[in-house]
Amino acid sequence: MTYGEKLGVMKELRNGPPIEICIGTDKILLCPVNNNWRSVFDNLPEKCGRWRKLNPTVANSSFKITKDRTISWLDFNISACETTLLFIIKNEMLGEIGHIGFDLMEDSSIWISRVVRGEKGVPGAMSEAVREICSIAFSKFDCDEIFLECYEDNIRGVNFYQENGFSIIGKKFLLPKQLNDEVTWAECSEKDDYKRVMLVLLKTKR
Ligand SMILES: CC(C)(COP(=O)(O)OP(=O)(O)OC[C@H]1O[C@@H](n2cnc3c(N)ncnc32)[C@H](O)[C@@H]1OP(=O)(O)O)[C@@H](O)C(=O)NCCC(=O)NCCS
Repeated sequence: MTYGEKLGVMKELRNGPPIEICIGTDKILLCPVNNNWRSVFDNLPEKCGRWRKLNPTVANSSFKITKDRTISWLDFNISACETTLLFIIKNEMLGEIGHIGFDLMEDSSIWISRVVRGEKGVPGAMSEAVREICSIAFSKFDCDEIFLECYEDNIRGVNFYQENGFSIIGKKFLLPKQLNDEVTWAECSEKDDYKRVMLVLLKTKR
């Protein structure tokens, strides 16, 4: 499958219907964020901003989160980006409870990203969402491998991914870099006085 064909599948998913997943007697929907997001979701920038504030240590950069900045992220980094997909996880009773996404990289690999539970309820929703994204990557993108990154100090996150079939295959050593109001984590050598470790995890098709 060519890179161009994979971009075509990204476009179909971005503009396609929500993906329905049953969890016991409950149900969640993976709703793609496209340039119609303002009419599809209620107060999405506020929700995404709040979820990010609740989980400050999982992002690879930290800065003051504002509504305008989150709107710009949804417009330019998400809905207008042909190599990125973000699904809002919705439940009929609870509304939006979190999000999950993935990125198509230049080498054609798929990396799961932006996995955040923002609200309690529907236990297992996040695991089922990860399984669904993996199933899409294996079937629709003809991938044999799916990657993701998770900070080593995010014990809950690392356990969550391992329980969902991912194995640690590598480490990146990181140093903080300040640029204006933003701190980002940049890769350095293991020999440097690194301050954080990012784990690389892999799940393979069986
Ligand atoms: C990592 C994270 C997404 C996991 O969310 P979660 O709510 O624990 O995941 P699930 O929705 O799959 O729920 C799992 C729980 O439901 C239970 N469960 C019920 N039915 C289940 C099912 N069908 N499948 C899986 N788990 C199920 C599990 O036993 C588990 O219970 P426990 O918390 O007592 O161990 C969440 O902690 C989070 O958002 N963390 C902050 C952001 C983050 O770290 N993101 C990932 C790294 S970038």
